[in-house]
Amino acid sequence: MQIAIIGAGNVGRALAGSLTRAGHDVTVAAPHEEHAREAATQTGAIAARSLQAGVTDADLVVLAVPATAHDQLAGEIGDALSGKVVVDVSNRPTPSADGPATSIAEELQARLPNTSVVKAFNTVFATRQANPQLGGVTADGFVAADDAKAKQTVLEIVESIGFRPVDAGSLAAARTLEGMAWLNMTHAMSGGTWQDAWVIVGPDSISTDRSSRN
Ligand SMILES: NC(=O)c1ccc[n+]([C@@H]2O[C@H](COP(=O)([O-])OP(=O)(O)OC[C@H]3O[C@@H](n4cnc5c(N)ncnc54)[C@H](OP(=O)(O)O)[C@@H]3O)[C@@H](O)[C@H]2O)c1
Repeated sequence: MQIAIIGAGNVGRALAGSLTRAGHDVTVAAPHEEHAREAATQTGAIAARSLQAGVTDADLVVLAVPATAHDQLAGEIGDALSGKVVVDVSNRPTPSADGPATSIAEELQARLPNTSVVKAFNTVFATRQANPQLGGVTADGFVAADDAKAKQTVLEIVESIGFRPVDAGSLAAARTLEGMAWLNMTHAMSGGTWQDAWVIVGPDSISTDRSSRN
């Protein structure tokens, strides 16, 4: 699958590496073209000369950028994203004290009505996006979307790079996933590590074949 990643920071590089290793054709684009080139050199992906060039031939586009960039991106490449699956990985820098009334993913879908927005990868730190396996434990990769076909595509991509894929439901479930990310960050700041990840544990967890729990 031809995948474009917009953003060449922590997440862009981590996913460029794991997706390339999984055999996907990956293009990385960033406003600073040199950052895209560095990411491509480090990961084996291809650097795009511009955001527009990066997404043109892609089937699926990962927005590995701050949520605050979504408005600008929608203006710049919204037309080029039309008809594509758009993966939102983003989290809010600070959560609302009242809990979220909506999610970044739903707001993005409203900005890009001609795309299928899928929430994925946001509950795990870049370290685990680069490698979802640690000490024999496989991190869960939660995927939420309204478009069933797009969700299935992303579940398969999530599994291809080594996560246990978990269907989290409709795009509104991104509210929960964004809260889970915040809890993981809070945990990391209070004694956990920036490698910790969510894993749902149940009776099947003792099975060595984690895929049997899907
Ligand atoms: N870091 C994590 O562990 C982690 C985990 C889960 C989710 N997330 C989420 O992932 C997203 C990216 O985080 P990160 O840590 O990778 O951030 P980062 O290291 O700061 O990288 C951000 C990237 O976004 C690009 N960018 C910024 N504004 C842009 C714009 N207007 N248009 C296009 N590209 C733009 C930057 O481009 P330049 O390189 O050209 O400056 C940079 O490559 C955030 O939404 C964050 O909440 C992060």
